[in-house]
Amino acid sequence: MAVILDGKLLAAELREDIKARVAAICAAGRRAPGLAVVLVGGDPASHVYVAAKVKQTEAVGMRSIEHRLPETTREAELLALVARLNADPAVDGILVQLPLPKGMDSSRVIEAIDPAKDVDGFHPINVGRLSTGLPALVPCTPRGCVMLARRAVADLTGLHAVIVGRSNIVGKPVAQLLLAENCTVTIAHSRTRDLPAVCRAGDILVAAVGRPRMLGAEHVRPGAIVIDVGINRVPTADGRSRLVGDVDYDAAAAVAGAITPVPGGVGPMTIACLLDNTVLAYERRGG
Ligand code: GUN
Repeated sequence: MAVILDGKLLAAELREDIKARVAAICAAGRRAPGLAVVLVGGDPASHVYVAAKVKQTEAVGMRSIEHRLPETTREAELLALVARLNADPAVDGILVQLPLPKGMDSSRVIEAIDPAKDVDGFHPINVGRLSTGLPALVPCTPRGCVMLARRAVADLTGLHAVIVGRSNIVGKPVAQLLLAENCTVTIAHSRTRDLPAVCRAGDILVAAVGRPRMLGAEHVRPGAIVIDVGINRVPTADGRSRLVGDVDYDAAAAVAGAITPVPGGVGPMTIACLLDNTVLAYERRGG
């Protein structure tokens, strides 16, 4: 049976470390780092995520600046807000929650964020810096994935990592990070031929497709490290619903060496890494 990679525990450890760093900053008489979170419209899942980000930001002693804008907001107004946050010296990190309402160009909004405050790591400058090995702000979920994999095996050098999914938010950046860990990296996706065989080549399997329980035992190499990024809500027999990953947990856990649960795996790591990125942005900007 596989070792369970407990993201809830690791995220709590990371938050304790961040809290201590913020306390040291404040004890030195400096201002606390500030994270601005912008939410446009009424997407229910986004409201839940943003509430959690605000709560955890304050819990580690940082300043949270929250902007909730109506669905009817024009793109120009959002860009004007981003410009104000860019110019505000007390704001160290800016996060615009995605997805944005229909009609808004998320690329244009992301490109408007000062790369030095881009704690999501989505700006093309940070994407380019990550891929060329320069210091960058790195996307939070991929950072969490690598931290969890390193809990299973401290040195990932030489391991073959197979990533299923090629999104800009997870698939591509996690590939860059695993390459930086000296892994051999394969990115598979919806058009990949013989996906089970490709996946079975992986010492590390990262599932980031957004399809409930799509990967089963036939996709997992015996002893592999399985990192499940999926968070899918599915109906249950009693008429309620529950969260499941992109991996069929029970089937995969019988074959894998280590596996992240859903919930309680990658999910909690994302916000912890966001807080870490905010302190990093604060320090790099000179506090
Ligand atoms: N929506 C879902 N995940 C994310 C994320 O990591 N950052 C932002 N800004 N929006 C998201």
